[in-house]
Amino acid sequence: MAKQKPVGALSKAAAKQELASLAKRIGAANEAYHVRDDPKIDDAEYDRLKARNAEIEARFPDLKRDDSPSEQVGAAPAEGFSKITHAMGMLSLANAFSEEDVVKFVEGIRRYLGMDEAEPLKFTAEPKVDGLSVSLRYEGGKLVQAATRGDGSVGEDVTANVREIGCIPQQARDAPKLLEVRGEVYMHHEDFEKLNKRQEKREAKTYANPRNAAAGSLRQLDAQITRERALRFFAHGWGELSAPLAKTQKEAMDRLEGMGFPVNAGASLCSGPEEMLESYARIAQGRGELGYDIDGVVYKVDDLDLQRRLGVRSTTPRWAIAHKLPAELAWTTLTDIEIQVGRTGALTPVARLAPVTVGGVVVKNATLHNEDYIAGRDSEGREIREGRDIRVGDRVQVLRAGDVIPKVADVDMKKRPKTAKPYKFPTKCPECGSKAVREEDDATRRCTNGFGCPAQQVERLRHFVSRAAFDIEGLGDKQVKQLHADGWIREPADIFDLERNYGGGGSEDGGDGQMDLLADSSGTLLSEREGWGEKSAKSLFQAIENKRKIPFGKLLFALGIRHVGEQASNLIARTYGSWEEFAREMHAAAKLEGPEWERLMDVDGVGKVMAESLVKTLESERESIDRLLKHLSVEDAARPAADTPIAGKTVVFTGTLERMTRAEAKARAEAMGAKVAGSVSPKTNLVVAGPGAGSKAKKAAELGIEVVEEEAWLEMIGGK
Ligand code: IVH
Repeated sequence: MAKQKPVGALSKAAAKQELASLAKRIGAANEAYHVRDDPKIDDAEYDRLKARNAEIEARFPDLKRDDSPSEQVGAAPAEGFSKITHAMGMLSLANAFSEEDVVKFVEGIRRYLGMDEAEPLKFTAEPKVDGLSVSLRYEGGKLVQAATRGDGSVGEDVTANVREIGCIPQQARDAPKLLEVRGEVYMHHEDFEKLNKRQEKREAKTYANPRNAAAGSLRQLDAQITRERALRFFAHGWGELSAPLAKTQKEAMDRLEGMGFPVNAGASLCSGPEEMLESYARIAQGRGELGYDIDGVVYKVDDLDLQRRLGVRSTTPRWAIAHKLPAELAWTTLTDIEIQVGRTGALTPVARLAPVTVGGVVVKNATLHNEDYIAGRDSEGREIREGRDIRVGDRVQVLRAGDVIPKVADVDMKKRPKTAKPYKFPTKCPECGSKAVREEDDATRRCTNGFGCPAQQVERLRHFVSRAAFDIEGLGDKQVKQLHADGWIREPADIFDLERNYGGGGSEDGGDGQMDLLADSSGTLLSEREGWGEKSAKSLFQAIENKRKIPFGKLLFALGIRHVGEQASNLIARTYGSWEEFAREMHAAAKLEGPEWERLMDVDGVGKVMAESLVKTLESERESIDRLLKHLSVEDAARPAADTPIAGKTVVFTGTLERMTRAEAKARAEAMGAKVAGSVSPKTNLVVAGPGAGSKAKKAAELGIEVVEEEAWLEMIGGK
């Protein structure tokens, strides 16, 4: 190979060219290695290419390619699928739990669209199949790609596996040039039982329910295994299209059926809440005879033009809702109560049950929530189950609602053995022996040892590497437990030292000489450990390497701070922009007063409980977080939709809007990054005034704020 220029000496054009050539060469090497199992270059050369690529990208971040090899997890072999970014996000559904919720859903839609009672508004009602959703891409009628839902925007490439599912057409008849079909891959009870029996015989892993079995069967690196697993598919929608399928949901589904896709025969068209609830009752009645699991009924606005107008909230469409079916139940014996210790130290009682089938699925464990629940009280001390407590040896009723963890719901006092004693909830952590206490107003007893408790360490690490957090491929539950048990990783920072300590010191520029000091005394390498090999160790190191650059929001969520969830983490990140500023302010906010504290409390969705937990944890975990930060480059959080004409502006609507309802206008404005306020103030940037606008428009004029009519507004937001 020709002598390489130092990256510092590369011109931008030369860098661009080299990145293109590297992408090609690394791509070819990946394919040879992972797909054809026939490597064309040796590992050292491969690493050199990747390192060079990373170095150029670091120097010219704006040249980073969409198909950059540094982003590709295709490099993760044995346990990896490559990733696919969905052309259109895959959404989930809001839930309705009662008839009233369904009526409200329909009313809400009418209100949003400004439709009066008399105007017809139809819905489809179809069973909600309990499987996993996939997106199938057809080009020129040919199946070219299949992806799992993943986190909704990026899924896994399961094309080879999907090709082994008999009822999915390889070729769609009369399809538009580009067609993405979305639907559910699922498994019949019968096939699930057979599979588990086979697995048992082979002493292989059995699955807890058909849904897990379907997911596990689809996500097989060897597609041949998928073929043996009798998976099935229902289409329930679509993603990207080169031409609309139809004008209504019903017609679109009929068209998909005509193209050769299985659609659910239990679907029907309803003219309003009454008929929707009738469909629900019918589907609920037939549930037991279906032979597969369903966990609800999905209602969708039939008119696709109205669907488009209704649009989506952050992750769910406004035009659809899932009406949940009641949980299925069964009676069995409670054989034991075990205590699990979670990430934040919560002691959760888990019921061990004599195996029982609930809705086609064998259940052996169920949650018992907390000590009050076992004792027959709710968190306010009121009786539940008329005060009946739950004891080991009791006959108990088990509920299972779809994918939700089964729970023990009731107890049969007549069948209580004479010897059964009231359950004594432990006051010590069963994992580390430290005191476990209940704070006032907390239903949960918690281990007081914090991250000194091994169970909390493991849970924290598991959370840290999980999909919504650092998403480190190749570091699943099993691996985290193993590496933790060996003392190789105790806290997140250790993950980033794994390669240096247990990788065998491959890189050319060498470590920093500390390797031998820090590696475990036996000198064992990861690749020599049980369950690991050269390939898997290497791809894990690569997967970790790829995550050194991490968005602010993800980092915050990954820390696993109690009460600070994914959404809050992202909101906080967007408010503070940079981690440095955030860390500085949180330190100041730890006094629980002052401007920094106030600013934190002002963040949308951040309340006192969350804020306190956040600043206190950041203080108490400071050293461990600092150790972690040394390994990372934290990306600033972008403010949302910064490139729309109304982004960051505060908008007020007044008067009657004629082309859309207030709710619709508000949602559109917010989706484009604006804040919508109810009244005009000096902070207002824009007032949209319809006919009949009164004092607000006047006040705006006085304050010198821009006032526009609805037409001008529509133009600003790019039309209806
Ligand atoms: S429509 C726009 N219809 O339920 C949202 N989803 O909880 C697309 N599901 O991710 C969903 N049966 O995987 C729709 N008849 C059905 C469904 C269905 C099952 C799944 C789907 C979705 C999840 C949401």
